[in-house]
Amino acid sequence: MEKNKKSSFSGRLGYVMAVAGSAVGLGNIWRFPYLAAKYGGGTFLFTYVILALTVGFALLVSETALGRKTGNNPIKAYKILGAKKLKIGGWLNSIIPMLIVPYYCVVGGWVCKYLFEYLRGSSHILTQDTYFSNFIANPISPAFWLVVFAVLTFIVVIKGVEKGIEKVSKILMPILVVIAIFISIYGLMTPGAIEGLKYYIIPDFSKFSIMTVIAAMGQMFYSLSIGMGILFTYGSYMKKDVDMEKAISQVEIMDTLIAFLAGLMIIPAVFAFSGKDSLNAGASLMFITMPKVFNSLKLGGFIGGVFFLLVLFAALTSAISLMECSCATLMEQFHISRKKAALAMIIEMLALGIPISLGYGVLGWIQPLGMTLLDFFDFVTNSCMMPISALCTALLIIFVTKLKTISDEIKISSAFKREKVYNFVMKYICIPTLLIILLSYILSTFGIITL
Ligand code: PHE
Repeated sequence: MEKNKKSSFSGRLGYVMAVAGSAVGLGNIWRFPYLAAKYGGGTFLFTYVILALTVGFALLVSETALGRKTGNNPIKAYKILGAKKLKIGGWLNSIIPMLIVPYYCVVGGWVCKYLFEYLRGSSHILTQDTYFSNFIANPISPAFWLVVFAVLTFIVVIKGVEKGIEKVSKILMPILVVIAIFISIYGLMTPGAIEGLKYYIIPDFSKFSIMTVIAAMGQMFYSLSIGMGILFTYGSYMKKDVDMEKAISQVEIMDTLIAFLAGLMIIPAVFAFSGKDSLNAGASLMFITMPKVFNSLKLGGFIGGVFFLLVLFAALTSAISLMECSCATLMEQFHISRKKAALAMIIEMLALGIPISLGYGVLGWIQPLGMTLLDFFDFVTNSCMMPISALCTALLIIFVTKLKTISDEIKISSAFKREKVYNFVMKYICIPTLLIILLSYILSTFGIITL
């Protein structure tokens, strides 16, 4: 019954580009370099790669296989698989993208604004210390740019899976890789950058601690879009003859490669510009420090513009995946058309996104749990709901469907080369890892530990 109406990617390349489009986002470009700098450079990189190849791989495989097997959104997938007691997992997986997409679009809007300033040649104003804080506190501007970004996302999603998402991802993702390589090389040629490169790549084991592992775990879940319903839905769009293991390996490689390149773009350049302490600037790194760094480079106006174009592409393909999954859930649960689902979603995105975008200015008085609205939504989805939903999927596989169901699904299209790793990780590593993440995120939010 589902077959006729079910959309799908045309083949492996389409799938890989779309999932990599979801995975490669603000998390890779802004968060990864910042965490790598903070947690001992090469040490963090190494820890991250090991985690991505084990726990990350296992969860990517699990969610994708369940999506393809059931051909449905997470709520229905859980139901079909007979997970009565874990029903909540299906709901969480479906609701999380609906709650992330509004605030993701707010940040996407900031990126649009910065790109716009580069395009019209006024990038020098971005280098003023107070520019960013004034911009996000403005009563209109952040909301306006949020609408611009949300509408761009909407235009792609309404066109559908093959003609919209796949087509856009196939164009934007290769351009993104080329730009990232170009800026990294350019950045590495600035005087003093090699010191920064060493700082980024050579492991400093004195900075290794359990916190390195926890930070790398959290980053990996976010970066690979795990526990957020995305992989279920995109898995359900994957044809049965696509080699799933190979596709997933390619997604992992691309996501890690872009994160690594983002570090190469940012760390050596910032290091050369103002020393390693400014790498700890966290959120402000991209919007305050980077414009200053670009301004100090030859052809900085151009390079900065290209950089923000890259960030825009990365953010857009991630927002598309979030909106698409939300639409898929609405379409399948309420039997409505894509058009209606997309309209419902854009209304929701604006209804939540506008207040969030104004949460640094006129609505700054709304502070749930003492956080800004954006931080609050990030905390609820990413730190609380995500580990629980991933935990439900792990429990579903271990206790209800059993590991063999996943292996069988993968073996429809190819051998399962990493089956042993998969089974081991699912049996012994996944659940403790997710529990540690949940606990440490909550403790760090309330200041009991620092991440
Ligand atoms: N993986 C994206 C990133 O690295 C973020 C994201 C999370 C996208 C959840 C979609 C869903 O930025």
